[in-house]
Amino acid sequence: MTAPTSPTAPIDPTTTDAWAELEAHHLELDGSLREWFAADPQRAERFTHDAADLHVDLSKNLVAPRTVELLLQLAREVGVQERRDEMFAGAHINTTEDRAVLHTALRRPAGSSPALVVDGQNIDEDVHKTLHRVFDFADQVRSGAWTGMTGKRIETVVNIGIGGSDLGPVMVYEALKPLAQDGLEARFISNIDPTDAFATTQDLDPETTLVIVASKTFTTLETLTNARLVRQWLLTGLRENAALTAEQEQEAIAQHFVAVSTALDKVADFGIDPKNAFGFWDWVGGRYSVDSAIGTVLATVLGPDTFEELLAGFHAMDEHFATAPAEQNVPLLMGLLNVWNVNFLDAETHAVLPYSQYLHCFPAYLQQLTMESNGKAVRWDGSLATTETGEVFWGEPGTNGQHAFYQLIHQGTRVIPADFIAFATPNHPLKDGDQDVHELFLANFFAQTKALAFGKTAEEVRAEGTEGSLVAAREFSGDRPTTSIMAPQLTPSVLGQLIALYEHITFVQGVVWGINSFDQWGVELGKQLAKDLGEAVAGDETAIADEDASTAGLIRYYLEHRAQ
Ligand code: F6P
Repeated sequence: MTAPTSPTAPIDPTTTDAWAELEAHHLELDGSLREWFAADPQRAERFTHDAADLHVDLSKNLVAPRTVELLLQLAREVGVQERRDEMFAGAHINTTEDRAVLHTALRRPAGSSPALVVDGQNIDEDVHKTLHRVFDFADQVRSGAWTGMTGKRIETVVNIGIGGSDLGPVMVYEALKPLAQDGLEARFISNIDPTDAFATTQDLDPETTLVIVASKTFTTLETLTNARLVRQWLLTGLRENAALTAEQEQEAIAQHFVAVSTALDKVADFGIDPKNAFGFWDWVGGRYSVDSAIGTVLATVLGPDTFEELLAGFHAMDEHFATAPAEQNVPLLMGLLNVWNVNFLDAETHAVLPYSQYLHCFPAYLQQLTMESNGKAVRWDGSLATTETGEVFWGEPGTNGQHAFYQLIHQGTRVIPADFIAFATPNHPLKDGDQDVHELFLANFFAQTKALAFGKTAEEVRAEGTEGSLVAAREFSGDRPTTSIMAPQLTPSVLGQLIALYEHITFVQGVVWGINSFDQWGVELGKQLAKDLGEAVAGDETAIADEDASTAGLIRYYLEHRAQ
């Protein structure tokens, strides 16, 4: 199969008929969610769709049926479906890096027919070959066949990575922690602040610790620095605990260090045996890589079966996105609603509020996925974006956020669209006497979107006995847009579905705005400057004098105040 080529210029959304109609429609749209629900008993049903195991209620968004029709027309006019098909087929839609974008291929089931062959590579074969190697390694660690240098069983797997080589693995591990094998835990080091490596390793036994160095490029300063720090910690510990000799050091590295990367030559340069390295490919973006070998820590601690279920969940959502009719296509609809919120309702941020403590890292994960993807002012042909683009994603698990920032969502002056996520059955057996605490928890989930949508009028406030200036303070305007996402339970498959849902939402927004959602040039300047500042930070006066006055002043402050 030959991948189709991508159009060189994006279609400017503001030049489409749909955009003009949306602008007019926005001005004409009146009423409120209260009125719309009262007038249309079918509204909830009309705007609720199932995608794999996810049940998604879009009815509390500030849209009329006509809004959705026009947004779908916009998607047709800018060619979302064509670009989606190009992505799945392996076209080089990552134009600035001239690469295919094939994270969806990482979760195609073995033996899919016809096989996906792109740029001469049999993608399915390579993906499953690597998966087998990862699973084989994971099984060895889990069974105790793979031990540390001194023959002790591995008890802790430390993943060293940053960005996509960290956020996805941490988030999934935290979400599915109850499935970790007894006696095996994962830990994560990402920050170049050495506190991270120190705090993570200080209570570990080097004899029972296995380190995974995860880096797509194997050039990332943070990861390589941390890998060296931990290598030193490990060798020092083994020398002390197990009288390791200098000759045995290489053997110790081989037993305690594995790597995941697309740059296997660099892995070897670092001293890790290439047979202990798992590869992936340049067509997997870092923030889209948790389902590649970057998930080795997950396959090891949570198990290959769990990882397979996770992949199956991703694939179920891919299938939905690729085949569901536009009117019921949840990632398409949610992506378009985000465009509506950003470009027509002037939303600048978007909250993601999981009512599951296990998903406490999900908002942070989504920040990289969404903001590194769509935080751009330039389109894929190099021209300037013609609209506002990527919104700020943020969030915390409910109910914690309710006691922190929900005040602003309920009564602030800004539009803050929010996604609420909850599960019918919890992953714990706890009860408070006869009280089902999960019920109490979910009552909060239901109550919040209800309050945000329908608010409380001044009359209702007065009817409760409040008078005078307090009435305004206790009034809730309502009409604050939310989406509710529910699933039966937080299983590995459901988690895979959720991640893929947001990947595709991000993609849809990117296509409408004409953005290449798969590069990240915006992180380069800071990296370059950090390297260039090395001499100044080390105290070289000439180098400091070459800096701008503010930077020079801050460096001097550091040099004067650091402990000697
Ligand atoms: O921050 C830029 C970035 O390239 C991310 O896109 C990536 O996930 C992260 O750095 C880590 O990169 P690597 O996996 O190559 O170490």
